[in-house]
Amino acid sequence: MNRCVIGLQWGDEGKGKVVDILAEDSDVVVRYNGGANAGHTVVVGNDKFALHLLPSGSVRPKTACVITSAVVIDPETLLGEIDNLGKKGINLDGRLFISENAHLVLDYHKKEDQLREEALGKNKIGTTIRGIGPCNADKVGRSFAVRMGDLRDLGDLESKLREIIEYKNRFFKALYNAEPMVSGTIFEKCKSYAKKLLPFIIDTTEYVHIALAAGKSVLFEGAQGSMLDIDHGTFPFVTSANVSALGMPAGAGVPAKMVDEFVGVAKCYTTRVGAGPFPTELDNEIGQYIRDKGHEYGTTTGRPRRCGWFDAVVASYSVTIGGIDSVALMHLDTLTGLDELKVCTGYEIDGKATSFFPANIDKLAKAECIYQTLPCWKEDITGVTDFSQLPVNARDYISFIEKTIKTPVTMIGVGPNRKQTIFRRP
Ligand code: GDP
Ligand code: IMO
Ligand code: MG
Repeated sequence: MNRCVIGLQWGDEGKGKVVDILAEDSDVVVRYNGGANAGHTVVVGNDKFALHLLPSGSVRPKTACVITSAVVIDPETLLGEIDNLGKKGINLDGRLFISENAHLVLDYHKKEDQLREEALGKNKIGTTIRGIGPCNADKVGRSFAVRMGDLRDLGDLESKLREIIEYKNRFFKALYNAEPMVSGTIFEKCKSYAKKLLPFIIDTTEYVHIALAAGKSVLFEGAQGSMLDIDHGTFPFVTSANVSALGMPAGAGVPAKMVDEFVGVAKCYTTRVGAGPFPTELDNEIGQYIRDKGHEYGTTTGRPRRCGWFDAVVASYSVTIGGIDSVALMHLDTLTGLDELKVCTGYEIDGKATSFFPANIDKLAKAECIYQTLPCWKEDITGVTDFSQLPVNARDYISFIEKTIKTPVTMIGVGPNRKQTIFRRP
């Protein structure tokens, strides 16, 4: 069984937890998109892991972990994560495989991300300042790209970096009047990355296809969420890659038809960090209740997440464009105690009702949400492991979402821990 986990909203849906759970039955976990803008949380007993680049399967000692060519890798963050796991007794030697074709996020990418956001002022995207956009731009621009395989030839890399940084310095000085960067400093860092990372660098496309041909069970871990997809999300308030399910084949180098199940992950409400449209946003005490109860602060940047009602228009769109087979609904426990719940089932735009998400921010700005109100529940559900034990209002809420997005809900989160999960396999 090969599966792929995809975020259905604006990221932070709980993909890390779902991947960790599904990894139990997987031989290989493949992280195939995004970069250190992602923050995937795995909670096992009293241990909490916040992973940015390592696949969420890495906390399981025997799982093979792959980072493909489409992941933009900040080597400093990656090495920090490898070290952190090591301190907890989790060793990745011999089971972590990094693509030789993955692009490196270097200091000048992070610097450019920051300078550009500052210059945009109130029009900023609200990026994570992890250098993701500038690195993807260099990848598409080709001439100034540095890839993992370049760490093998340090002589060539030194002169390449000199040329790149000379160009970047001129560019940053002209646009932002920024202080110049020293290419020697960045090269010295690359030398140390090479020493530590070269043992992990291989042709991961070949590795994954050998595993698939051998009948191994492969789990593909998506980062971000479909609404942040560069082509199909809320452009320009998106990330710089195809992060809906549509990006999986390109990111992984594996055709979608080899995936048996696309598992979409959504929260029982909606959150987003950064700027951009958010039709069901609750900029009030209910939003604050959800933020406090769900600990809705960014895993990567610590920013407070914007919170709102479950938007079935958003979720249905992500399911439709992504060919999602089943849904994991997380954070049901966070809603406990509210007076009532609302689910957005459609938008009214210029007097016309629609249930198809318009990925155009001018139209979205005019969208009035059409809500269905449902009763909430007061009982503590954080220890429930069987669907039938949930309060009837909680069951009805899940069934309503399931019916509205026309996709079976097969997993329900009732707390951050691996064990706080209800399974509903038919
Ligand atoms: P990801 O980026 O999709 O992996 O999600 P994040 O890790 O950034 O954010 C999800 C947060 O919700 C993390 O702090 C998780 O530990 C937590 N979480 C996941 N599922 C549940 C759940 O069902 N209930 C609660 N209360 N927390 C959850
Ligand atoms: P995970 O994998 C939530 C958002 C940023 C910003 C926009 C562009 O943890 O779900 P970028 O740094 O990518 O150029 O920022 O995308 N963003 C995320 N939001 N979760 C993520 O990842 C995100 N990755 C990027 O907040 O709005
Ligand atoms: Mg996250």
